[in-house]
Amino acid sequence: MLKESSKAKLRIWNIGAYNMSYTRNILITGGAGFIGSHLVRLMVNKYPHYRIVNLDKLTYAGNLKNLSDVEEKTNYTFVKADICDQKAIIDVFSNYQITDVIHLAAESHVDRSIEGPMEFVMTNVVGTVNLLQCAKDAWKDTEGNIFHHVSTDEVYGSLGAEGLFKETTSYDPRSPYSSSKASSDHFVRAFHHTYGMNIKLSNCSNNYGSHQFPEKLIPLMINNIVNKKPLPVYGKGDNIRDWLWVNDHASAIDRIFHDGRIGEAYNVGGLNEWTNIDLVKYLCGLLDEKLGRASGENESLITYVADRAGHDMRYAIDATKLENELNWRPSLEFEEGLSITVDWYLENSEWIEDITSGSYMDYYNDMYKNR
Ligand code: NAD
Ligand code: DAU
Repeated sequence: MLKESSKAKLRIWNIGAYNMSYTRNILITGGAGFIGSHLVRLMVNKYPHYRIVNLDKLTYAGNLKNLSDVEEKTNYTFVKADICDQKAIIDVFSNYQITDVIHLAAESHVDRSIEGPMEFVMTNVVGTVNLLQCAKDAWKDTEGNIFHHVSTDEVYGSLGAEGLFKETTSYDPRSPYSSSKASSDHFVRAFHHTYGMNIKLSNCSNNYGSHQFPEKLIPLMINNIVNKKPLPVYGKGDNIRDWLWVNDHASAIDRIFHDGRIGEAYNVGGLNEWTNIDLVKYLCGLLDEKLGRASGENESLITYVADRAGHDMRYAIDATKLENELNWRPSLEFEEGLSITVDWYLENSEWIEDITSGSYMDYYNDMYKNR
C-alpha cells in the first residue's frame, strides 16, 4: 500500500519523461532578453518539476541563442508572442494551464525611450495591463497563483549625494522609460488591491553580466575597447549607478517569487555604487591587462560626449528588507563579477558579432518556426 504522500509524489512526477505533469506552469515573459535568459536558465535547471514557458516577442533585444543550452530541456517551452496581443496571451494561459507569471518583458533602454516613448507605453504599460487582465480571467476559479512583476529602481527617480532608495520611497520617475515602468508598477498594485490578485514586485538596480545587449554601458564599453573605438561617456561621467551581477538578480527573483510576501515590493541591490567614469576607467585597466596592452592605452579611447537628456544623477538601493526577510545576499564582489563578465565577452566574440551583423534574428526561423 502506498502512503498518501507517496501517491501524491507519483501523481506529480508521473515519470515517463514526456508525460511528466508539473507542479507549476510558470510563464516567464521577456525570457530571451538579458535578465530573462538568466532567470529562465536558473528556473529550468533548478526546478525540473516546473514547466517554464518563455514568452517573448523577439524584438531587437531578444536573442534565443542566449538560451541554446536549455532549449532541448523537456520542461522548457518557447512561445513567440507580443504581451499586447490579447488573443495570443489568452491562448498561452489556456494551452499551458499557466499557474504563475514572472513578468520581465519590456522596452528597457533609457536612450531609446527618449528617442521614441510610444513603444515604451505600448509594451511596458499596455502590455503589462493586458497580461494582468488575462491572468485575472484565467485564474478566476483557482487560488494561490502568483504574478511577480520585475521592475527597476529608476521608478524612485534620482538621488542627491546622500540616501538610498527604500521600498517606501515615493515614486518620482523622470524618463519616459522609468515613467512607463512606474505606471506598470501602479497597475500591478491596483490588481492586488482591486481584484485581490497575488502580486509581488521587485525593484532592482543596474545589472551587469553575460548576454547583455551591447547598447548598455558595460558591454558597449567592452566591445569598443576590444575594437579600439571611442568610449562615449555622457556629460562629465559623474553620474552614479549601483551595479549588481545579473545572476544575483535572478537568484533574488527566485527567492521573492517563492518566499516573498504577497502584495509586497522588494528592492534588490548590492551596495555597489560607481561613477560612470570610474567604472569605465576600471574596465580600461582590466582590459589593458587581459588584452596585453600597455597600461593606459585603453583610457586614451575615452571621449566625453553630450549628456543624456534628463540624465538621472544617482541610483542606490537599500536591500535590507530582502536581506532580513528572505536572507538574500549578492554572491560576488563586483571586481570578481566584472572580471568573469569581461572574460565571457572576450571568449564569446561571435555572440556580439551575431548581433552587429543581425544574424541572431535568424535563429528563431532556423530553429523554431517549424517545431
Ligand atoms: P532586455 O531589453 O534585455 O530584454 C527585454 C526582453 O523583452 C527582450 O527579449 C524582448 O524581446 C522582450 N520584449 C520586448 N517587448 C515585448 C513585447 N511587447 N512582448 C513580449 N516580449 C517583449 O531587458 P533586460 O535588461 O533583460 O530587463 C528585463 C526586465 O528587468 C525589464 O522589465 C526591465 O525593466 C527590468 N530591469 C532591468 C534592469 C537592468 O539593469 N537591465 C534593472 C532592473 C530592472
Ligand atoms: O537602474 C536600473 C536600470 O539600469 C534598468 O531599469 C534599465 O533597464 C537599464 O538599462 C539601466 O539603465 P541605465 O540608463 O542606468 O543604464 P545604461 O547602461 O544605459 O547607462 C548606465 C550609465 O552610463 C548611465 O548613467 C548613462 C551612462 N552611459 C550610458 C551609455 C550607453 C554613458 O555614459 N555612455 C553610454 O554610451
